[in-house]
Amino acid sequence: MNVVRTKAELREALAPLRRDASAIGLVPTMGALHHGHLALLRAARDRCGLVVMSLFVNPTQFAAGEDAETYPRDEDRDLELARGAGVDLVFAPDAEEIYPTGFATSVEIAGGLTDVLCGDPARRGPDHFHGVATVVAKLFNLVQPDVAFFGRKDAQQALVVRRMARDLDFPVEIATVDTVREADGLAISSRNAYLSAEERGRAPALSRALRAAQTAIACEGASVATALFRARQDLEAAGIDPEYLEARDAETLTPAVSLNGRPVLLAVAARLGRARLIDSVIIEPDSGPTSPRGEGKPGA
Ligand code: PAJ
Repeated sequence: MNVVRTKAELREALAPLRRDASAIGLVPTMGALHHGHLALLRAARDRCGLVVMSLFVNPTQFAAGEDAETYPRDEDRDLELARGAGVDLVFAPDAEEIYPTGFATSVEIAGGLTDVLCGDPARRGPDHFHGVATVVAKLFNLVQPDVAFFGRKDAQQALVVRRMARDLDFPVEIATVDTVREADGLAISSRNAYLSAEERGRAPALSRALRAAQTAIACEGASVATALFRARQDLEAAGIDPEYLEARDAETLTPAVSLNGRPVLLAVAARLGRARLIDSVIIEPDSGPTSPRGEGKPGA
């Protein structure tokens, strides 16, 4: 496994490989690798002749007061895990390499994808996603992957990246990988390390509430509003006051009041102590039996 730090080294390392590789897969990460990242690397290894992983804690996607400085970093461990996962090339630049003095460009995605849920100005705000889009655009230009892999855990991020790639004609396929969870359902995240033992005990309530709402809507015919109301009660019972708990169209992120023949994203974000956790599930329109009120039916 080759580790490069500069854009010039990356281009030099890729040039000869580009000719031979059947397909180049890119897995962008901020390090602190866990089983979620490893699932992305496995998916890339399965599909691509050459697997490139980027390891960069991108400062522009953190707002002032967020955890950019304290974000968990352990490069030796990350490189060991990447090697074990069969990564061919790691790009681990420093901030100056990505954002040299005078850097002045940002990629902004409008159309209602970046100013709702986590992008709501009262939460992380749209600049978070502009920071993500800008660094991912740079990585796409530098690596020129055939396929780039993103986790469904960050559902809004995957939508934003997909829209950017489409709008700016990046010749890359955006592949998404299912959320990897702990045995008790908690979505694995680098930020789970911030949880105290007591908070860790309450954290699975997020996935439990989402799962219960998903079942209520898809299998029991509950309305979206009723399922969200019950999910909120489940969270309250665990002492969790969510930043948001919402149902949105899984492609456009417009509010969803019923299944209406389209996939619906149920998404939650909550602060537990120092950790800000997010999770989501998708309800497919044809999932489960048709509800008594017809909500399982397209067009109902
Ligand atoms: P990071 O949080 O390191 O996540 C890297 C990738 O791993 C993302 O695509 C994320 O969705 C995926 N991932 C994280 N936890 C997962 C889980 N439990 N199951 C499946 N996939 C999971 O997301 C970022 O970094 C950054 O925003 C980045 C895209 C690298 C741009 O800076």
